[in-house]
Amino acid sequence: MASTAPTVELPHGAAMPVLGLGTWPMDDTEAERVVAEAIGLGYRLIDTAENYENERGVGAGVKASGAAREDLFVTTKFNKQWHGVELAAEACERSLDRLGLDYLDLLLIHWPNPQQGQYVDAWKGLVRLLEQGRVKAIGTSNFKPSHLDRVIEATGVIPDVNQIQLSPLTTRLEARAYHKERGIVTQSWSPIGGEGTAVREDPLVLELAEKYGKTPAQVVLRWHLDSGLTAVAKSSNRGRLVENLEVFDFELHPDDVMALAALDQGEGSAADSDSFGH
Ligand SMILES: NC(=O)c1ccc[n+]([C@@H]2O[C@H](COP(=O)([O-])OP(=O)(O)OC[C@H]3O[C@@H](n4cnc5c(N)ncnc54)[C@H](OP(=O)(O)O)[C@@H]3O)[C@@H](O)[C@H]2O)c1
Repeated sequence: MASTAPTVELPHGAAMPVLGLGTWPMDDTEAERVVAEAIGLGYRLIDTAENYENERGVGAGVKASGAAREDLFVTTKFNKQWHGVELAAEACERSLDRLGLDYLDLLLIHWPNPQQGQYVDAWKGLVRLLEQGRVKAIGTSNFKPSHLDRVIEATGVIPDVNQIQLSPLTTRLEARAYHKERGIVTQSWSPIGGEGTAVREDPLVLELAEKYGKTPAQVVLRWHLDSGLTAVAKSSNRGRLVENLEVFDFELHPDDVMALAALDQGEGSAADSDSFGH
């Protein structure tokens, strides 16, 4: 069994593991197998979304794991068709039904879709769900500071988490500074670079893997943790699931953290949530 990630306290009081399992692009069958296996290995945070079309599999995996519900942290996200106060509540109920759960640990607005212009209402819906105790924490995903300004101004309530694309090649400094100033927890998606290998095969990452006697993925995941970030990383492979969780027995030297951050290719390397979203 690998280690279990420590937790960070979110602004509205929930305790979220700093590292979790991503489930895109698993289908239901794969998600059921991998989620059960990952929980058995020590994973406690599972990240899914309506859009991944695998919430049923994730829920089945949670059940098959035999873990106590209160020991797990389940995140899901809803699409733009649910951007409204009542609609967000309906999205939540539909996700709970597919997952076979009676509460969510974290519910996220998946993308702001500013051209649709309704993410503030979606946020008001999430605030209500938090007040009702249907969810333990609420957040956003792919929100830029300009989008966050609007939801905070409208409600006075900050997201617990903003989940954004982030890696040493895409460091998102402006978003991180904004989050930090307000106490919002940053959660990195595609933390080890996603399906492409540019991050894991970067020469500096390879050099540091050699230096620390760790794998490239472990060095990069450690970079997130040593940068004050949290992350969800996906693997469907048992060996890599173990590997990705075995990052709590070493730390990068601050100079190496900075050197990795210097690989940043700028904001243009991230998907632009003003024009993309679902
Ligand atoms: N909010 C959003 O808009 C958004 C967008 C994208 C993703 N996400 C979430 O974030 C999660 C993580 O992002 P991601 O899946 O795009 O990228 P990722 O976790 O950075 O990378 C996953 C890829 O790396 C491979 N991999 C995993 N561990 C490895 C290791 N130790 N060594 C070498 N390769 C390894 C995986 O293949 P194997 O499975 O074969 O190991 C997979 O191809 C997603 O699963 C999803 O839950 C959210």
